[in-house]
Amino acid sequence: MKRWNETSNHKPPQSQKSKPPLIIIMCGIVGYTGKRAAMPVLVSGLKKLEYRGYDSAGVAVASQEGILIRKQSGKVAGLDQLIHDDPIRATLSGSHSGIAHTRWATHGPPTTDNAHPHLGPNGRIALVHNGIIENHNALRDRFKADGHTFHSETDSEVLAHLIESHYQGDLLQAVTQALREVEGTYGLTCMSADELGVLVVARRGSPIVIGLGDDETIVASDASAIITYTRQAIYLDDHDIARIEGSHVDIRSLDSSSVTRTPAEIDWSPGAAEKGGYEHYMLKEIFDQPEAIRNTIRGRIDTGRGTAILSGLNLTPRELVDIQRLLIVGCGTSMNAGLIGEYAVEDFAGIPAEVEQAAEFRYRNPIVGSRDMVLAISQSGETADTLAAVREAVDKGSLVAALVNVVGSTIARETGRGIYLHAGPEISVASTKAFTSQVSVLLMIALKIARAHRLSREEGIQIAQEIEKLPELVEAVLASNDQLAEVAAHYAGYNNAFYIGRGYMFPVALEGALKLKEISYIHAEGYHSAELKHGPIALLEEGMPVIALLNEGPGQDKSLSNVAECKARSAPVLGVVTQGDDEARQACDHVIEIPSCPHYSAVVPAAVALQLFAYHVARIRGCAIDQPRNLAKSVTVE
Ligand code: M6R
Repeated sequence: MKRWNETSNHKPPQSQKSKPPLIIIMCGIVGYTGKRAAMPVLVSGLKKLEYRGYDSAGVAVASQEGILIRKQSGKVAGLDQLIHDDPIRATLSGSHSGIAHTRWATHGPPTTDNAHPHLGPNGRIALVHNGIIENHNALRDRFKADGHTFHSETDSEVLAHLIESHYQGDLLQAVTQALREVEGTYGLTCMSADELGVLVVARRGSPIVIGLGDDETIVASDASAIITYTRQAIYLDDHDIARIEGSHVDIRSLDSSSVTRTPAEIDWSPGAAEKGGYEHYMLKEIFDQPEAIRNTIRGRIDTGRGTAILSGLNLTPRELVDIQRLLIVGCGTSMNAGLIGEYAVEDFAGIPAEVEQAAEFRYRNPIVGSRDMVLAISQSGETADTLAAVREAVDKGSLVAALVNVVGSTIARETGRGIYLHAGPEISVASTKAFTSQVSVLLMIALKIARAHRLSREEGIQIAQEIEKLPELVEAVLASNDQLAEVAAHYAGYNNAFYIGRGYMFPVALEGALKLKEISYIHAEGYHSAELKHGPIALLEEGMPVIALLNEGPGQDKSLSNVAECKARSAPVLGVVTQGDDEARQACDHVIEIPSCPHYSAVVPAAVALQLFAYHVARIRGCAIDQPRNLAKSVTVE
């Protein structure tokens, strides 16, 4: 297992000067060179990247005849069919090197012309590109004045022209010269019809992973596309440019000096990125959770001493005592997990913790004290707002740590300390196992800080033991999946829903509502139970179901009163209740039971119950569960 302070992916923060801008498009790249026919590798790689969200797809292969491109708007399955039906299929499938892309439209609509790959003016160089070339207009004008014709509205095609304009028989040299003229961001892969079997890849602000195989190399914008072939990978740093031929990889920097990057082991099994027989990735990932949490906490709990071992934080007990405030930043589900972290840190450690949306933190010139620690949470490690918040915190001189799932991601590389979730690949756009792993780590962080501050060994042991029980709590909820599906059927016909909770369950209410709205398109809002009276109660009627988090714990009596208020206004109530709690059960129309446990760990089974509820509602409504409309897995745009 890689730890932050043990992995070659960990780097000190980059200097301000070398930081790329943060506007990055969310597309997928695959490239292949080696012993196999390239086309099947490219198409299967694109399929692995579908979860990212895209609206067009394309491939290019190099052969003696030149570069052949097939691309179109729509899904990879359509592209696959196009290739299958192609009259020059033999040539297409005979090539041993090629590049491929899924595009999420930014510059120009999702048309076939705008889809990647793009060619240079003579059709001898093809390119796939993620990112934005900011000076593309000036470059385009220059080329147009020289008589170039463009076939798309994209900045990427301009880059292909720029590279070809520098080409004199050495693709690495041409790309290097071109990128010296470029302002903006890129993760790119290109090839030339005059250097068969050679790929050149480069990174600035948009990830590129090089998968190292036997007599072959697969490159991609994320590891999901390469783990079928190899687990040995090199993650390029910004300004790296690599020439790849078969299994030979030569990495240079923009000034052409040689660069050494140590390969890292991707600890995902190939099967981990597949659906594993489940109808949807989301369902598979919900069921992955006991194992994911076990992987997250493995080796990190010292029950005997009542503390957590989080070497990636790289903080001595003395330094932990010095932390006087924790500032947690993240977006969406990661931020909701952060809210649970806030409660736990204040509860266990007695030091203030605050959570802020990363987008707000980055722009409002936040006050960060010298004894504050900023903790950034991101499943992907690529979310633009969270990354910018990290950079802002680094610039403010604060202690910055990150909690990330994707090894080698940009946030992991730019923070000096942190903790990997080890939850395995999360493919479904709706985050599930990352959330419960994030919560597990946050409880461990709170425990560790608390032991340095005020928590006794005995109290620490108790919390450590409860954290170790989290996988079993999840298993108990998963065992009631069939009942949950039945309950969901009663609620799938509504168009609105409120989620309410208090204390630790308030963030769970927010997360439950987010899950439901993003995959079922039901308008759902999460509120603190006490907030109902301050406005939302006006909307309560028989068409507004309320999902109430009512497990045992502080404030439960007040939450039961809130439920009575909902019932008095004819709102149907679904309660998440502790097993055997008859009073809570009788207060509701339907219930989902979770095992009895302390309120800080009840968040995990409660969240899993709401994930399953949202999943079944969305399935009944026939929604595109793994790829909800308008959403992408990795939000690398502002
Ligand atoms: O990769 P990150 O954790 O940084 O992503 C943050 C959000 O975009 C993400 O959690 C989003 O809210 C999910 N779709 C929620 O299911």
